[in-house]
Amino acid sequence: MKTIDFLYKKIVRPIAFKIDPEKVHDMAILKFKIASNFNFFKKIVSNYFTVNSPISISGLNFKNPIGLSAGFDKNGEAYDFLKCLGFGFIEIGSVTLKPQKGNPKPRLWRIPEEKALVNHFGLNNIGAYEVLRNIEKKGKEEIVLGINISKNNDTEFEIAHKNISECFKILKDAGDFFVINISCPNVKGFTESLKDYSKKIIESVKEIDDKKIVFIKISPDILDEDLKDISELCEKTKTGIVASNTTKRRDLIKTRKFDSIEGGLSGKPLSKINIETIEKIRSFAPNIPVIASGGIFDKNDIQLRKKAGANLFEIYTSFIYEGPLQVRNLLGQ
Ligand SMILES: Cc1cc2nc3c(=O)[nH]c(=O)nc-3n(C[C@H](O)[C@H](O)[C@H](O)COP(=O)(O)O)c2cc1C
Repeated sequence: MKTIDFLYKKIVRPIAFKIDPEKVHDMAILKFKIASNFNFFKKIVSNYFTVNSPISISGLNFKNPIGLSAGFDKNGEAYDFLKCLGFGFIEIGSVTLKPQKGNPKPRLWRIPEEKALVNHFGLNNIGAYEVLRNIEKKGKEEIVLGINISKNNDTEFEIAHKNISECFKILKDAGDFFVINISCPNVKGFTESLKDYSKKIIESVKEIDDKKIVFIKISPDILDEDLKDISELCEKTKTGIVASNTTKRRDLIKTRKFDSIEGGLSGKPLSKINIETIEKIRSFAPNIPVIASGGIFDKNDIQLRKKAGANLFEIYTSFIYEGPLQVRNLLGQ
């Protein structure tokens, strides 16, 4: 295990960090996609990285409570290899009904001294039908699969529930649970109350299938009154919460380089607000499943979120900084 950690931190990461971050990400997805065709290789990798720490939430059985956050495998191309790195679940997406290119490049930056990233992808993805095709090609994998759905950027917020529920309708039988992303900081024009907006979305999704496990993914920048309203709404409608997405805030990092760059900040700087958000959700919604996402880097981060009331834990940025042993590290193996 120490050799892998050494190789990643002393060789792979320093080389990768000299290359444009989005290019590295695309290369990684391509390699994982190719590797996913080799069952023997997948088995070896799985045997090495798998950590069993089973947990059941909302009737789903997870190998362990650590998941890969949305945004890494946006199009469902590589999750069948990524699962071999020990994850207890993988959330693909965000997927939108129609494909979209996202924002112009560059749109991903590293801040190594803060163990953080800033992204301004703008929800680039190949669209619901193509993602469905990717999932169907892979067949039923032994992993709990979450599908994160967002509205198309050119869809007005007033009709977003229709756009989202149409996307859900296409993908509903392909995933074990669904996350509706109402939190992307890279989209503009929100005017409605967050509660009314979320209520319409939850209702229209449940109208299509009320048996599916659905979560709402919120922003860490959410106002306290909105957080209370959303938590109560989720408790009432038996909807889970993923807390949270990336932040627009820049006061959480020392460098001023990103003050004028639009996009969501992720990683270590999110840690404190993530714990506070989970505590607040729990005070309003004692019974719903809560997935913690934001700044999880070590075992203590897991303990703090567990204490705050989270049931499951997702990582993105720490996977980039800490490497393939991160699930094992987080579970203390
Ligand atoms: C490059 C990048 C792309 C992301 N794309 C999405 C996305 O498409 N949908 C989404 O809901 N969250 C997205 N996220 C947010 C992550 O899923 C996660 O909630 C956030 O980064 C906080 O977790 P972390 O600190 O472990 O990275 C993205 C994050 C990053 C860094």
